[in-house]
Amino acid sequence: MTALAPSGVGLASDRQWAEKGDSGQMTHRPPSPSFARDIMPMFRPDDIACMRPMGVRLNNPDWMTDPGGDPEHPDHANARRVFAVLKKGSMPPDQPWSNAWLAIYDDWMANGFAP
Ligand code: HEM
Repeated sequence: MTALAPSGVGLASDRQWAEKGDSGQMTHRPPSPSFARDIMPMFRPDDIACMRPMGVRLNNPDWMTDPGGDPEHPDHANARRVFAVLKKGSMPPDQPWSNAWLAIYDDWMANGFAP
């Protein structure tokens, strides 16, 4: 009898953990995308090397998460400029990003451009 309450509590919290573990992996993206974990790995070494001389620092979290704006973008101009060319399909020149990759980048921006 007295064991019912504790075991009920135990089940509820077990289920919460299971839902987080399972659905987090299989049906949802991680809740807080980060540049280092989720975005930077999508840039190839050639992308990074090609763009470095033009001042586009694709492998630099400080540059990519710089909150500063420019005349075209109210904030985070570096990241937004990068997104604009990805979305247009002009970069990378040889192989435009898939919609799935664009969605990951968009999600990262919408969630605060975390490093
Ligand atoms: C994910 C990959 C890439 C991203 C996000 C990217 C991003 C960009 C951005 C933001 C610009 C505009 C620069 C500006 O506003 O001043 C640009 C221009 C340029 N990029 Fe990339 N780039 C990528 C890959 C590459 C690669 C692999 C090459 C070389 C093979 C390349 C060559 C160029 C060139 C020549 C320009 C200037 C001329 C133009 O706009 O077409 N990029 N890129």
